[in-house]
Amino acid sequence: MRKSLEEAYRSDSSEDEDIEEFDPLNYDEGTLKRKKQKKSRSNIDDGTVRPLHERKSWARRHLVPSKFCWWMIGLFFVVVILLLSAGGIWVRKAAPEDGQSDPVYPSPLGGADKEWEESYRKAADLVRQMTLVEKVNITTGVGWMMGMCVGNTGPVPRLGFPSLCLQDGPLGLRFTQNTTAFPAGITVGATWNRELMRLRGEAHGKEARLKGVNVLLGPAMGPIGRSPMGGRNWEGFGTDPVLQAVAAAETIKGIQSQGVIATAKHFIGNEQEHFRQGWEWGRPNAISSNIDDRTLHEMYAWPFAESVKAGVGSVMCSYNQVNNSYACQNSKLMNGILKDELGFQGFVQSDWLAQRGGVASALAGLDVTMPGDGLRWQDGKTLWGGSLAKAIFNGSVPVERLNDMATRVVAAWYQMKQDDQDSWKGPNFSSWTHEKIGLIHPASDDKATGVVNQFVNAQGDHGDIARRVAAEGIVLLKNNDNILPLTRSAWTQPMDRKFKVAIIGEDARMNKNGMNSCVDRGCNEGTLASGWGSGAVEFPYLITPLAALKEVWDKDNVTVSSYGGSGWSNGVEKLAKESDLCLVFANADGGEGFITSGGVAGDRNNLYLAKDGNKLIKKVANNCGGDAKSNVIVVLHTIGPVLMEEFVDLPNVKAIVYANLPGQESGNALVDVLFGDKDASGRLPYTIAKKEEDYGPSRKILTSTKDLVPQQNFTEGLFIDYRHFDYHNITPRYEFGYGLSYTTWHLSSGQINYANLSEKFKPLPSPRTDLNDGIKPPNFDTTLPEPSTALFPPGFRILKKYIYPYLSSIKTLVKGPPQYPTGFDITHPTTPSPAGGAQGGNPDLYTILAEVRATLTNTGKRPGSCVVQVYVSLPQNYIDEETGEVIVSPVRQLRNFSKTVVEETEGGRKEVKFGLTRKDFSYWSTTRGNWVLPTKGDIVIEVGFSSRDLPIRMTY
Ligand code: BGC
Repeated sequence: MRKSLEEAYRSDSSEDEDIEEFDPLNYDEGTLKRKKQKKSRSNIDDGTVRPLHERKSWARRHLVPSKFCWWMIGLFFVVVILLLSAGGIWVRKAAPEDGQSDPVYPSPLGGADKEWEESYRKAADLVRQMTLVEKVNITTGVGWMMGMCVGNTGPVPRLGFPSLCLQDGPLGLRFTQNTTAFPAGITVGATWNRELMRLRGEAHGKEARLKGVNVLLGPAMGPIGRSPMGGRNWEGFGTDPVLQAVAAAETIKGIQSQGVIATAKHFIGNEQEHFRQGWEWGRPNAISSNIDDRTLHEMYAWPFAESVKAGVGSVMCSYNQVNNSYACQNSKLMNGILKDELGFQGFVQSDWLAQRGGVASALAGLDVTMPGDGLRWQDGKTLWGGSLAKAIFNGSVPVERLNDMATRVVAAWYQMKQDDQDSWKGPNFSSWTHEKIGLIHPASDDKATGVVNQFVNAQGDHGDIARRVAAEGIVLLKNNDNILPLTRSAWTQPMDRKFKVAIIGEDARMNKNGMNSCVDRGCNEGTLASGWGSGAVEFPYLITPLAALKEVWDKDNVTVSSYGGSGWSNGVEKLAKESDLCLVFANADGGEGFITSGGVAGDRNNLYLAKDGNKLIKKVANNCGGDAKSNVIVVLHTIGPVLMEEFVDLPNVKAIVYANLPGQESGNALVDVLFGDKDASGRLPYTIAKKEEDYGPSRKILTSTKDLVPQQNFTEGLFIDYRHFDYHNITPRYEFGYGLSYTTWHLSSGQINYANLSEKFKPLPSPRTDLNDGIKPPNFDTTLPEPSTALFPPGFRILKKYIYPYLSSIKTLVKGPPQYPTGFDITHPTTPSPAGGAQGGNPDLYTILAEVRATLTNTGKRPGSCVVQVYVSLPQNYIDEETGEVIVSPVRQLRNFSKTVVEETEGGRKEVKFGLTRKDFSYWSTTRGNWVLPTKGDIVIEVGFSSRDLPIRMTY
């Protein structure tokens, strides 16, 4: 199983051959791409020419005039091959212009925040004792499949600092056994329940700790869902920055409460799978997500800001480029936004092979390279390790930067109290085998084995949490005639025969090859409970809808029959005709781009249900009950929105139940809601449109381009999902935030309490204070040791392909002026942002300016749970008083929400209240480089049940 994963990865990078010898230490942001292309030509040239020369043919002796000619012919072929592999001879641009992403240098030092003060003090004490090589070692992974986890850093045994185990996340622990397959992020988002978000995080963190995982690779909050077809949208929490931010922050607090470092990923703009990495999709370079500063702040960085505010220990930079600079060597993103403006105190790790340059990434703020392999998988070469040591010695990377990298890693370790050696003993599982005994360094030539799996059962009672999340993540879209909830006895009056229920569709059943038969859940077989890719886990068990439904009805009164066939099958028709009630199941799957299944290469190709789901549903609807036309309930499991116009209005389709990706407790959770043991309380975490075009131009996944560096311009800015629908007045099928309850709700008595009225007339947050009297980062001795101390120790046994921090020779240490990335000038440091000052940004941005209150009444006949949502509208076409910029804002934006249970029926009330912060009322001014609160015109606050059902409207 692992082998195919490995192969998938390997095949991704097989064409990388040509860049392997490029000297990473000479990369810079702007020239990287061109240098790589130049090098690749000459390498392929070699390979093509040599065999021809070896043939002693007549042709060679008589027709070939000179060696030079062969070189030219070879070169010609190489160019053609290169062009074709890069996407065809129509490539029009070699590389975009430099300087589209601002340079921000030097990298801000960690240790300037009160909440991390103690951890930095301890970390600095430890790092001061480390040699240069030891510091390098903790910044660099030991290589893919060289340790037990998907990522393993180098240790410093002399000082008791361990190799850190990094493991996916985010819906459970990947490649482990006896752990929980929780509902996916998108299902968690659909609960809109902060408490459950936290509980799931806690349970996830606890399992990680019990398995010895130091760093959990989640939660995911990017992609946010710019395109509804994005393959990995389901790993995150929904297409809105506030929903993502709240869910991410709660998850992080939950994970880290267990002493495990959480990872906010993927930073940033990785909104589609296609072209996410160089060579994976036939282009030498990854896609560039070109995002303007306002959109970056208000949309894509917002959840990361809240994650940093929640104290997240690690952030993962993404594969793609942003404004034509790789995210993992983009100084504006890591030095500027993350470390200066958001005050991030932990460490930035690269996504797996997302690091594309050695010096450039270090200077731009990357702290840890994962999995340690450099430009290619498992070739034993790294961009850091010994190369980073070399860069320090030759002056390309200042030693202060290395000290900061190492201190950030150690500080995060102390911050989560992982120095408690009694409870941290390293991973007790292997990602690479299910056997008890296995290889210690599976990808090397080392044959040493040991006990690698202790089979620790980490599940506890987490199945209950998984079930609650899955149930509350079910969104009831349609419920005509209150057909739901169902009753277990089925008949409403005594009858002389049993009630007949049909359960139809493969999506109700178990994958016929076994629940874990496809690597990383990379196929759509049987019921869909997870998307695919690194974010998926192995199911310890999977309760299918069919299994749960078979058990639930009263057997004396009801017979349950099932059919797994498709819309083409006659069996469906026959069963449907004979039934009094038909439940029909369908799904839509996708996932991470290294897997292609059923023609879906990660991102979906369209927004329709998979496997002719529409056809199946229509067939069931046309036949259910024969001429009597029985009721039909549609149940959908999907990774994102699907179009349902073909069946949504069919008269006997009485209910549509949107069950998202429920994880291992799928069937139980469905029964809980279908039978009303729980209220239907999920709400949509994105918009469901009537037709694909309604999502606007950003819906399209870029799959073909003439550009050598694929360009994706986020020209729609903030106008994605409901912001697009509202602005262009497009009626969706079901709007963002929508979902039915089994009871009915009323909101009244809306009121605003001003925390401090004068704040309303102050456009900017208070000046940043940490620069004047804040806590100072630690100091280190910057004297470099003798380079020879960094050589491999004498007699050292070098394992093949393992990544080491040592130098092989000191002869390669080049003297001379280092080549820095364009814009790198530490004599003129970039001015710190006024929007910074603490974790999450300037603390004044989080000052509560208004408290909104309302009364929620349960007007129906059942107890229930209601999600109350608060939206803010800034004055439209506002003119910034200082800069004259015209600020066009979305019609409304979600700014707060809560889920409230009201048990008492027909009049039971509860007061709901929400704080709104300065940031909630501000826009990001690109010109001022700060958050600005409009002081003229009306700011409107709306409170209600969805983005289009807002009964309370007030002016701030
Ligand atoms: C994914 C990351 C994941 C990493 C390690 C990458 O392919 O993009 O989200 O954490 O692999 O498995």
